[in-house]
Amino acid sequence: MTTRDLVALLVEYGRLHSVESLVDATPYLEELARAVGERPVRSVTARELHDIHEQVCTRPAVRPLLELVEKKSQRWELAYSQRARGVVPTLQWESPRPVRALVALFDRPDFRPRRVLELGCGDGVNAVFMASKGCRVTAIDVSRTALEMGREKARAAKVKVDFVEGDVFTLDLGRKPFDFVFDRGMFHHVQVFHHEDYKHLVAEHLTPGGYFHLICHHVSTRPTMLLDCMCGSIGKLLGFLAGTLVETGAGFTSDDLHEVFSDRFRIDSTDLVWDDNNRPLCFISALMQRTS
Ligand SMILES: C[S@@+](CC[C@H](N)C(=O)[O-])C[C@H]1O[C@@H](n2cnc3c(N)ncnc32)[C@H](O)[C@@H]1O
Repeated sequence: MTTRDLVALLVEYGRLHSVESLVDATPYLEELARAVGERPVRSVTARELHDIHEQVCTRPAVRPLLELVEKKSQRWELAYSQRARGVVPTLQWESPRPVRALVALFDRPDFRPRRVLELGCGDGVNAVFMASKGCRVTAIDVSRTALEMGREKARAAKVKVDFVEGDVFTLDLGRKPFDFVFDRGMFHHVQVFHHEDYKHLVAEHLTPGGYFHLICHHVSTRPTMLLDCMCGSIGKLLGFLAGTLVETGAGFTSDDLHEVFSDRFRIDSTDLVWDDNNRPLCFISALMQRTS
């Protein structure tokens, strides 16, 4: 199926069923069809979507789509503040203990990072674990309440973590590189047209040869396809625009991660891991080393 056919289908579906996010995204979808219309959907890469996004994102017609992205980013503080006030007993992704794949990495005798950056650290459970292993940890999150929870955990564990509030894409993280970057659960919420920015952000804050450990949803957990041909980057973009992936984030295959990261990282391993808290969810735990 070509991108043009698929866009036409989605726009029509959105119009007939009054799907607000699709109606709002119609000008964006039409730009997409103009740029890569005749190409099979599966062939369009995250890098191309990034370039298209850069060209169209300043146009007033795509403003509603950008507002959808903005709204999504604000929901994190709401979720953590509801958790802090006891409105919800727990958050879906919350874990009382550090994630097994990270603990296993620290069990390796050859793995001894000193300066660590954690992206989207949430309530700090993994940041506190790494600090307890002797690392100097900078842990970033957009949610003030999540960071308060992290500070409380660090106090209880008697370790020091530098918790920083802000958006990883706009914060100034300084020039001194880290020798390990960790992300559990943030990357799969990054819009596909920002995957390139995310990759460069990680690479630019990591020493050459430094490790990057990414834990993100596997595609089976968050299917980004309506048809087989729709997995890949376009599937993620359309899944978000159609609303199905707004709350949950996208899912990835090992090939997807190679497509996004392999020009700046050597991907040492991509393992399928089950959710630590016995939810029926499958994740990819990927260990990469910066090459350029
Ligand atoms: C699914 S939660 C995972 C939290 C934590 N890593 C864990 O494993 O419990 C995603 C986290 O990423 C944070 N986040 C999302 N986008 C972000 C951004 N652009 N900059 C900083 N933090 C972000 C959210 O506030 C949230 O805490």
